[in-house]
Amino acid sequence: MKKIIVSLILFSHTLSAQYTDINIIKEVKVRNKGVVVSAHPLASEAGAKVLKMGGNAYDAIISTQYALAVVYPQAGNIGGGGFLVGVKNNGEKFTIDYRETAPKKATHDMYVDKNGKANTDLSQNGRLAVGIPGSVAGFFATLKYCRLPMNQLIQPAIDLAEKGFAITEQEANLLNSHKDHFQKYNQSANVFVKNVPWQTGDILVQKELAETLKLIQKHGLKGFYEGKTAELLVSEMKKGNGIITLEDLKNYKVAERKALEFDYKGNNVVSMPLPSSGGILLAQMLKMAGYENLEKYQQNSTKTVQIMVEAERRAYADRAEYMGDPDFIQDKTSYLISDEYLKNRWKNFSFNKATPSSEVGKIIQQPKESDQTTHISVIDKDGNAAAVTTTLNGLYGSKVVVSGAGFFLNNEMDDFSVKPGVPNMFGAVGGEANSIQPNKRMLSSMTPTIVLKNGKPYMVVGTPGGTTIPTSVYQSIVDIVDFKLNANLSVNSPKFHHQWLPETVAVEKNFPETTIKDLEKLGYKVEKWNQIGRTEMILMDDSGNIHAVADGRGDDSVAVE
Ligand code: GLY
Repeated sequence: MKKIIVSLILFSHTLSAQYTDINIIKEVKVRNKGVVVSAHPLASEAGAKVLKMGGNAYDAIISTQYALAVVYPQAGNIGGGGFLVGVKNNGEKFTIDYRETAPKKATHDMYVDKNGKANTDLSQNGRLAVGIPGSVAGFFATLKYCRLPMNQLIQPAIDLAEKGFAITEQEANLLNSHKDHFQKYNQSANVFVKNVPWQTGDILVQKELAETLKLIQKHGLKGFYEGKTAELLVSEMKKGNGIITLEDLKNYKVAERKALEFDYKGNNVVSMPLPSSGGILLAQMLKMAGYENLEKYQQNSTKTVQIMVEAERRAYADRAEYMGDPDFIQDKTSYLISDEYLKNRWKNFSFNKATPSSEVGKIIQQPKESDQTTHISVIDKDGNAAAVTTTLNGLYGSKVVVSGAGFFLNNEMDDFSVKPGVPNMFGAVGGEANSIQPNKRMLSSMTPTIVLKNGKPYMVVGTPGGTTIPTSVYQSIVDIVDFKLNANLSVNSPKFHHQWLPETVAVEKNFPETTIKDLEKLGYKVEKWNQIGRTEMILMDDSGNIHAVADGRGDDSVAVE
């Protein structure tokens, strides 16, 4: 009999395939075992396997990320970047910033034509959209917190790439709908394009990617940032308008930054500082909403949405004005999250009507619904916790596959403000703080977060979703801390999102109609979106029970040690 106690598996199904069974597990309650929650069951299992081998949460999160680069090519990556927030069982907190950087040849107006018009096609698609990938450097920087060597941690991904795995229905549909893009932005054939449409259960084998992973296994960091992989990446750049050089790759550096911490109703929230806007936004929104005693209300009621949206409006106006890479701008974090500043910011809040966005910041433009990026939450049996959010930016990033190396490159350059006031693919606007400069990191919204109670991890949470990331994490924390909901209700209840500009409040299509009607009467413009985010949440109670939930919106899955 298995030793683990899996007391609740609410939804699970199995896809059988030639080489791989895919068993999606949505919810697990367990004790004295580690758990991994990620966007793909095979990636979660890769992490859980490492836990079984004696690895800790940081070993598991490396293996899960490598595996996601194989089984979840839409967002898992070695050609993108991410952020890790860790809390060790001795209380030590740390973050690793492996965000992409702008190439040395990048310039302030590289996406602006001679008539002053911004060309966002260039910042979003093809070789010029690519920032210098940080993921592999991030995995190596994580190693110092690990127990196992990299050559073991990377092996599950090599096996998956070499032997192949059955693709899910969601992946098949996405690969089919992106076929034209893959052909447009790649000169050479690649494994992601077939003559006939992809079907659920088709086996995706990635021999070139397996070879690249083996180079990393053999040569370490140099297996990616120098030698054959780097040369292939640079020759891919030269096939078009790419500007990344061998020197850029060799010079890439991660940054280890002090975690952004703040108190929320007696809980210590530990999140990502700049160059992610996520931690600052989370602090601002929770603190402003806290001035209205949210615990008096219910999830998704009119008053709750009003309070939370108005806090979002004020925080996102600050994002556009003040946030960027702290190595290049004056870092105003401590002022922006201070009660002195936020109480003043909250002064014009009223339950009687929506506050016009023009009254809380300098106005400009438009959004788009999108759900890229991917999040992993892990806790091990010793109480070490890790939250990673990683991204190629758009689905399959720039759509460019490094020919001969088999991996997608990001289109992260679009997260810069390509021109003040011109919205990026998430509709976010920005100014000089987030302008392009060589070697600078583009502002992110990724919000990997760990909440501590009495100094111990209580909640590990995060989600993809571009600018909707901080607002979804904000809702998760309010659901658990204020409304005392369980993890499943929090993760799978309909979400909402506002980001100052546009004035619209986005709600998921199953959002309560009565709340929508009330909000409209108060002057809010409400728009229905298909989906917001894919949250992976782990909750730990005082007696050591772990409750892990993978979002029901995708193939997301929990795996237990
Ligand atoms: N590329 C999405 C983000 O970093 O926010």
